[in-house]
Amino acid sequence: MAIHFSVNQQEVEVGPGEEEMPLLWFLREKLRLTGSKFGCGIGQCGACTVHINGTAVRSCLLPVGQLQGSQIRTIEGLAPTGQLHPVQQAWLDQDVPQCGYCQAGQIMAAVSLLERINQPTDQQISDNMTNICRCGTYTRIRKAIRQAAE
Ligand code: FES
Repeated sequence: MAIHFSVNQQEVEVGPGEEEMPLLWFLREKLRLTGSKFGCGIGQCGACTVHINGTAVRSCLLPVGQLQGSQIRTIEGLAPTGQLHPVQQAWLDQDVPQCGYCQAGQIMAAVSLLERINQPTDQQISDNMTNICRCGTYTRIRKAIRQAAE
């Protein structure tokens, strides 16, 4: 039976022999959704973070064959009407990115956090925002999450 799931509310089908392909590759190579980035490839850095059924997940290790019926949201799906998501707006207002490479994953992690906990404490931010930023933008990430939570 073919594997079907949705990406940003569009149905997609996994082709024959593609079941073992990690979701990140499927998004980037098959669907040309290149906002999610490859960093470490071992599930540690979070550059590849997307939402699966509303939960932030690292997509670099997850085979698409396991996604039957899932709803995937990527950074490209955060602002379907063209108006920035409040977290994206907070990221701009707080000038969060430096090189920018990890930021799509950071934003997806932050959106997932705020959808579950709308006024997170410092501890909850620390516990949930485990993505790595080599430029060290952590202080601005925290400020942007605080702004988006207002
Ligand atoms: Fe997936 Fe680093 S690329 S966690």
